[in-house]
Amino acid sequence: MHDLPRTEGDRPEAVLGDQTERPAFAAHPAGQRILIVDDEAGIRDSLETLLTLEGFRVDLAADGAAGLEQLSRNVYDLMLLDLALPGQSGIDLLPQIHALVPELPVIMITAYGTVGNVVDAIRAGACNFIQKPWDNEKLLADIRVAIGKNRAEQEVVHLKRTLRQRVSFENIVGKSEAMLQLFDLIAQVSPSRSTVLIQGESGTGKELIAKAIHAHSPRRDKPFIPVNTGAVPSDLLESTLFGHERGAFTSAVAAKKGLFEVADGGTLFLDEIGTMRMDMQAKILRVLQDRRFMHVGGTKEIQVDIRILAATNVNLEQAVKEGRFREDLFYRLNVISLELPPLRNRKEDIPLLANHYLKFYAEENGFTPPVLAPESLRLMMDYDWPGNVRELENAMERGVVLANGPMLTPDLLPSQLRGNTFSTALLEQKPDASLFDVMEEIERRIISDRLERCNWNQTETSEYFRIPLSTLNQKIKRLDITLKKRSKE
Ligand SMILES: Nc1ncnc2c1ncn2[C@@H]1O[C@H](COP(=O)(O)OP(=O)(O)OP(=O)(O)O)[C@@H](O)[C@H]1O
Ligand SMILES: [Mg+2]
Repeated sequence: MHDLPRTEGDRPEAVLGDQTERPAFAAHPAGQRILIVDDEAGIRDSLETLLTLEGFRVDLAADGAAGLEQLSRNVYDLMLLDLALPGQSGIDLLPQIHALVPELPVIMITAYGTVGNVVDAIRAGACNFIQKPWDNEKLLADIRVAIGKNRAEQEVVHLKRTLRQRVSFENIVGKSEAMLQLFDLIAQVSPSRSTVLIQGESGTGKELIAKAIHAHSPRRDKPFIPVNTGAVPSDLLESTLFGHERGAFTSAVAAKKGLFEVADGGTLFLDEIGTMRMDMQAKILRVLQDRRFMHVGGTKEIQVDIRILAATNVNLEQAVKEGRFREDLFYRLNVISLELPPLRNRKEDIPLLANHYLKFYAEENGFTPPVLAPESLRLMMDYDWPGNVRELENAMERGVVLANGPMLTPDLLPSQLRGNTFSTALLEQKPDASLFDVMEEIERRIISDRLERCNWNQTETSEYFRIPLSTLNQKIKRLDITLKKRSKE
């Protein structure tokens, strides 16, 4: 989300004090940016006044969710974070903050100042703490030390981000090296008319990228026409793409333009190209060669100016080897190839994507976005996401709808993410549980989960576990598992 315009939280440059009277602070370039996260307006105001007078740019957030939101939009040099925020404590927030910006120095603001809290905060990654009421000079000194320590690294990060911002795209979230390289490639290929083949597993964002290429091309004001070549029945695909003359076939009562003509001047996105029939492949190849074709049943050649983008989640090289895909078409399409990495290979994008979609679906439903609990984030980082970004997006939508508090707790995540953590979670929740209780709970959850996945079909479930149906029945009774009604398949 570093790609969003830097508007929110931006405020006019701070009015600087007379720098000549403050040689100690004059070394601080104006514009170093600090985010203050505190629920007390009085604290926010006084810190803002103090820091603004010292030449810092200051942004404010009243709770964790707003703080994370600002953090994902803007680049900060330091965060001042209240330990006792409502809902989620500052300590709980630290893992998320560092998942978003690993290098950010965070100074905790604490009213309690108990050794325990401070030690926990430092362990969780805070670099220092201040105690309310604070001493202004000491606070400023601590801030300078924290920023100074980090400055070299921060400058590199700033520079990288500023450079990257020139070539980033709305709606495409990602800060992993793989995604940043992809942004560069999209920027390079967009202006031309070259055919681009976008490959990647299901849900990695192939269509999203195709749209971005079109939107950043000189064709952006002309149509972007997606056609799912796998979903259109093959006997219809030809007339869908090429159009037809009246009477070309029984149902052709009137002449009709095909998508190649509809897309004239713009971009045609051939999706799921790997499943296209061989005879269609030959016909498409011709159009790709000279942008000319004829209506089905027609005799006149039609010339169009289209850019072709194609996508597939099957390995086309393999399909060529197996004789399922024409080699010549593969080379025509593969002029420029973009490979979208699966989400499990760029896990650093997970927190960013999660926050993006929490905010998106919360706004859509008129809710305040819930904050990911540290345990939820851990589960999400451990999970392999076979359905990639689409699966993560769905999980966040579900979480937003089900959450009835400020936090997205692990129980609101889909069950497949919670796979192996029953025992740890249970022991944490009930420290006095015996091993027997834990084992029973694990058994209960494994069986319930499988029953749900088998649509409450007990025979299928017992076969899965390789136990007799009668044993499964006994277990269901003993463990007091509530059976749900089977839904229609
Ligand atoms: N980098 C990303 N940032 C934000 N959203 C993303 C990103 N990648 C994918 N998505 C979202 O995930 C969903 C799936 O993306 P998309 O439809 O482009 O995937 P796909 O690769 O075409 O999948 P399939 O092969 O199943 O058709 C969309 O809602 C898309 O907006
Ligand atoms: Mg797709």
